[in-house]
Amino acid sequence: MKVGGQHFRTIWLHPANERVVQFIDQRFLPHRFVIEEVNTVAQMATAIREMHVRGAGLIGASAGYGMYLGTIEAAGSPTVAGFDRHLAGAAAQLKVTRPTAVNLTWAIERQLTSIAQGKTANEKIDLALGTARHIAAEDEEHCRMIGQHGLNLIEQVVPTKNGKPVNVLTHCNAGWLAFVDYGSALAPVYAAHDRGLSVHVWVDETRPRSQGSKLTAWELGQHGVPHTIIADSAGGHLMQRGAVDLVIVGSDRTTCTGDVANKIGTYLKALAARDNKVPFYVALPSSSFDWTIRDGSEIPIEERDAEELKRAHGWRDGQMLEVSVAPENSPAANYGFDVTPRRLVTGLITERGVCKADEKSILELFPEHAS
Ligand code: MRU
Repeated sequence: MKVGGQHFRTIWLHPANERVVQFIDQRFLPHRFVIEEVNTVAQMATAIREMHVRGAGLIGASAGYGMYLGTIEAAGSPTVAGFDRHLAGAAAQLKVTRPTAVNLTWAIERQLTSIAQGKTANEKIDLALGTARHIAAEDEEHCRMIGQHGLNLIEQVVPTKNGKPVNVLTHCNAGWLAFVDYGSALAPVYAAHDRGLSVHVWVDETRPRSQGSKLTAWELGQHGVPHTIIADSAGGHLMQRGAVDLVIVGSDRTTCTGDVANKIGTYLKALAARDNKVPFYVALPSSSFDWTIRDGSEIPIEERDAEELKRAHGWRDGQMLEVSVAPENSPAANYGFDVTPRRLVTGLITERGVCKADEKSILELFPEHAS
């Protein structure tokens, strides 16, 4: 998508040096547009853990490139066993960075399978590079397709609006910044806007890290999509007033039975949507399905540092400032995600189409995962 009129992806290889990975450092948005460069597994692991890069699809793509950097490092080992040991270490280091988004392990396992086919270190490096590129390109294409399938859902609402905008509510950031391009939840919004449909987005602020007000609002603004930032607790009120036509959120991990893990607070939006008969859609590429888990209660939920809740960050006079917003001695608990049960989900928007959030419908779209 575009930044200041110029097309950007979230992650790419340095144009003059394929052994360096570049990405948008999201910690500084919306105030500064910073590009970070990494060339070691340790740097990539830090970038994922400390959320320079974040969002399920981008975490997967970053891990894919991280494993490629791992093969370059492993090539310094004099023996095949040494190479394998180093690569296993890289995979382990990347795997523990974030627990909830299944795209992380999905990308690492895919790289391990691919790299194992190479006989020499150089072959393994080439395979890892190809797979990293492939993971990123696939993420982009799947999100583009999600946009096309979700567009139909927005188009269906247009005739009921008498020329007024279709109001979509979203939580957190499941836009292009959370993927390689296009996004999941926001892809249908971009597709509708680009088609000339009038669409407006209610953007949940999404405390404590404010991915909504910092990232979603920024990327919608860059693309010219009308939007309004709201407090996390405002969604129910807006739904009661008929100001929300559709809720579309993303997912970090969805079970093969349709339970959805997404940023903390998503479940409350789903409850409010059900009470107000507002359709609640979850947009996700197939890389965010966990085909091994049947119940949402099995999804690992990230708990982050409580200081994220007790402090806020902002920009003043060209500097990032941190301020305390809670009593220093009060304990705080910072749960990163929650699980929305499938019964509250109207439908899943995937790259292969829209389906109900139940095992039968999901497997009809993805029959290769039926056992
Ligand atoms: O903690 P984050 O920012 O990596 O959380 C991920 C998210 O942005 C959301 O949960 C999103 O809706 C799903 S990932 C596209």
